[in-house]
Amino acid sequence: MRLQGKSALVTGSARGIGRAFAEAYVREGATVAIADINLEAAQKTAAAIGDNAYALKLDVTDQASIDAAVKAVEDKAGGLDILINNAALFDLAPIVEISRASYEKLFSVNVAGTLFMLQAAARSMIARGKGGRIINMASQAGRRGEPLVAVYCATKAAVISLTQSAGLDLIRHRINVNGIAPGVVDSDMWDEVDALFAKYENRPKGEKKRLVGEGVPYGRMGKPEDLAGMAVFLASDEAEYIVAQTYNVDGGQWMS
Ligand SMILES: NC(=O)c1ccc[n+]([C@@H]2O[C@H](COP(=O)([O-])OP(=O)(O)OC[C@H]3O[C@@H](n4cnc5c(N)ncnc54)[C@H](O)[C@@H]3O)[C@@H](O)[C@H]2O)c1
Repeated sequence: MRLQGKSALVTGSARGIGRAFAEAYVREGATVAIADINLEAAQKTAAAIGDNAYALKLDVTDQASIDAAVKAVEDKAGGLDILINNAALFDLAPIVEISRASYEKLFSVNVAGTLFMLQAAARSMIARGKGGRIINMASQAGRRGEPLVAVYCATKAAVISLTQSAGLDLIRHRINVNGIAPGVVDSDMWDEVDALFAKYENRPKGEKKRLVGEGVPYGRMGKPEDLAGMAVFLASDEAEYIVAQTYNVDGGQWMS
């Protein structure tokens, strides 16, 4: 019960990795807001997790929605101890086909969404005076470019950079900001990624997913649960002295 009595908000936690984080946090004693743009899915997930999870409608691209979600957590749980910035979108296209709309959508959710959620959470934590933990979801994609994935890679590099700057700025308020960089994780998002690779690399559906899994030194793709241990650790008292870092949790794919 390493998070006993803590109040957490996980963005984009109706499914996938965010859901696994919410489940692990509740197991460790926290109360968790399942905050997602898809309210119906968030409600189903919260009901499946149990009494210590509750659903919130949240669009991380909308400042009023961000402020309302943080206020809802303050009202429901007396304050916010832990934020996980997990919501993100993926897209894929060769450089010459990238559309401005895709660029703006990904930067709006993955980068501005992360920054302004983090800002609202930090304001709330500073006003309460009890410090806090903020965990940003980066990616191996943020460590280097990829030929078809320029925009998503750039958003995740920006998340790593924001984690460093926010981590250095907020530690004086005893708010630890850190990140997690997964490799390839078998989630609904990766099914969408596989479909896009099938289109642009002219592959049968499922082939890219099989190949990336075989390429992981551990021997398979990650599962959402594989990331939960790091998310619990970074939110726990044991991680008190860890500031502005982004950790690879990727079965050995990347070293830095
Ligand atoms: N799956 C992978 O292989 C992988 C690898 C590296 C990093 N990541 C990162 O991990 C995180 C979770 O990935 P996942 O695979 O579980 O994704 P996912 O697509 O399965 O889930 C994302 C969730 O975010 C929600 N969402 C989308 N836009 C939103 C918005 N504007 N406001 C609030 N919620 C919104 C969606 O409704 C969905 O529930 C993301 O940050 C992703 O970039 C994933």
